Amino acid sequence: MKIQIKNAQIITMDEGRVIKNGCIRIHQETIAYVGTETAPEEEFDRAIDARGAIVLPGLVNAHTHAAMTLFRGFADDMTLESWLFDHIFPAEDKLDQEAVYWGSLLACAEMIRSGTTLFADMYFMNESTIRAVIESGLNANVARCVTGMNTEYRNGLEEAKELYTEYHGAQSGALRVDFSAHAVYTCGRETLRAVAQAAESRGAGVQIHLSETMKENRDCYRQYGKSPTEVFRDMGMFENPTNAAHCVYLSENDMDILAENHVGVSHNPISNLKLASGVANVKEMLEKGICVGIGTDGTASNNALNVFEEMKTAAVLQKGMRLDPTLIDAQNALEMATVRGAQILGRGGERGQIKKGLRADLIILDSDSPNLWPVYHPASTVVYSANAGDVVTSIINGKIVMENREMLTIDMEKVKAGVEKSLARMDI
Ligand code: NI
Repeated sequence: MKIQIKNAQIITMDEGRVIKNGCIRIHQETIAYVGTETAPEEEFDRAIDARGAIVLPGLVNAHTHAAMTLFRGFADDMTLESWLFDHIFPAEDKLDQEAVYWGSLLACAEMIRSGTTLFADMYFMNESTIRAVIESGLNANVARCVTGMNTEYRNGLEEAKELYTEYHGAQSGALRVDFSAHAVYTCGRETLRAVAQAAESRGAGVQIHLSETMKENRDCYRQYGKSPTEVFRDMGMFENPTNAAHCVYLSENDMDILAENHVGVSHNPISNLKLASGVANVKEMLEKGICVGIGTDGTASNNALNVFEEMKTAAVLQKGMRLDPTLIDAQNALEMATVRGAQILGRGGERGQIKKGLRADLIILDSDSPNLWPVYHPASTVVYSANAGDVVTSIINGKIVMENREMLTIDMEKVKAGVEKSLARMDI
């Protein structure tokens, strides 16, 4: 399919270039042209007049657990320990493939509506999430999350290997399969080593949780005499392209280790605030040259998959904590949610920018939204003024998946019925 989008204010995320009255042409899955010249409309299957609206790369959610939409609002306002061990883990024991499918599809619907086109997912029963991703038309890095203080990780790791063989690179590369060890407090040495080796022998990426809470660090020092970052490094995890979520409690030395090993960090400001875990030192991480993306975490701890909210929070939080309004400017925040997010998911040079030759993942905002006018600096408008509901059209891999806020790949009535049936069956 050939698509042309004209009269757009294009935020390319390509060296800060913004094009007023710009035009984008898409051939099949790829961006074929970005510039100011409009071609005759009869050459295209679809001609979209953006009417001056902002067009930007689709947003990247660098850390989530999609199927946890089922537990949205289920256990709020408690400590991470109690939330996870007393509520979430017991509820997750009741999940089945069908429930994970509907929960994931609900997540995909929410992500499409709020402008996300690529996400990193760390969970289990992943075939069901993959089914939802394929149906919805999204891009995802899906990882079978492995836990186990002793040898109980083995079945999970076998599943992860099978998943990789079956789906890595599927759907013309829309899908990637990563490996995942949940965290140092849920995985023993052997587990960490085995996951690291499985990824390394395949050249795969890994997703982990790292230094989310002060307690995690304290317990890790007690057990290993070193920080979680040092433990992961010593078990060989960072030999692989790694996406480390949270990183709230990093020492100077930990940051140096992450920088040296090119570990990407997904910053989850709202989840960290809601669970009162703390605030990551994004400023220092960026100064060390660490690639930082933005994630929502799962909806049981956020409770939304809204990257717009995360971008604004990430920016204002660093400013407020450090009493410095120049920290994390709008362009930086938008980079974290687009080009840098794509990079830490191993998709750099493939997605995250509106640039000729890259995959056509882009979103169009509402040209009539009162909160989006006037526009002095488009990045500032997106980060500080836009809402998730301002996304009207979403194109992923050159396919229109939402137009004028109508989702074309997902039937919300069916999703709601499927989720309700799953929750009734699970009896939670
Ligand atoms: Ni998480």
